[in-house]
Amino acid sequence: MIVEIDEKSGFCFGVVNAIDLAEKGLEKTDNLYCLGDIVHNNEEMSRLEEKGLITINHEKFKNLKNTKVLIRAHGEPPETYKIAEENNIELIDASCPVVLKLQNSVRKYHQEIYSREGQIIIYGKKGHAEVNGLVGQVDGDAIIVSDTEDLDKIDFSKPIVLFSQTTKSLEGFEEIRREIENRMKLNKGDNDIDFTVKNTICGAVSNRQKQLRDFVKKYDIIVFVSGVKSSNGKMLYNICKSENESTYFVSNKNELNKEWFKNRESVGVCGATSTPFWLMEEVAEKISFFS
Ligand code: F3S
Repeated sequence: MIVEIDEKSGFCFGVVNAIDLAEKGLEKTDNLYCLGDIVHNNEEMSRLEEKGLITINHEKFKNLKNTKVLIRAHGEPPETYKIAEENNIELIDASCPVVLKLQNSVRKYHQEIYSREGQIIIYGKKGHAEVNGLVGQVDGDAIIVSDTEDLDKIDFSKPIVLFSQTTKSLEGFEEIRREIENRMKLNKGDNDIDFTVKNTICGAVSNRQKQLRDFVKKYDIIVFVSGVKSSNGKMLYNICKSENESTYFVSNKNELNKEWFKNRESVGVCGATSTPFWLMEEVAEKISFFS
């Protein structure tokens, strides 16, 4: 049985940078706090926790003083920086540059559209750290839309600027865009609508969507490796499954089932932008023992 790992799967550059900063920080100290999960992957989290990384939530963060805290790639709202300053917390800021650019853009468009009573719409997952960071840029004055059912929260007679969380699917974004446009046109009764569309899905995610579609077609069976909490993991897994029905989701090698590989000749192993390459290698190695 041939077992191949998708060379392009694994950490995006934003996650690589965050983990690099965490490891460098841990070389200088025994313990380093990280605000939220550094990456939505339990195996990688455990590896870093063994080195001294301590994951904290925002409640605990508020009560810390005179220490160092790592900000992960998802970014944070301005409130976090304010608390850090007040409590003499040194931030190691691993916010991904792509997320920082998006935060700036949300602020800029909010200022611009505010006088016209416009609305900022963010296509994303409510409660997700990146989305919290984006909404925080405009003091909560943004509408989060996870699917078309949420569109009823929008006033279609007013101007709209649409953004996306960086890790959402292109298809989902396009569906939301189309639906908003249709409803605005219906509301106005003509084509004269004030609708700005900012496709802010990260290139690392959108390119991977296209490339995974090609990868999964080449194998009898696909094993997709990801943490269960990873947003882009769920989304990329669904894309693989839509192209190759024999796609299985695992978080680690212990979740593999020998039965899946019976009478199969080729296996492709791939993963999310939050999946470490070493974990895919472990999974691939165990699969090769099944043949
Ligand atoms: Fe940054 Fe894109 Fe990764 S936004 S954290 S490089 S998925």
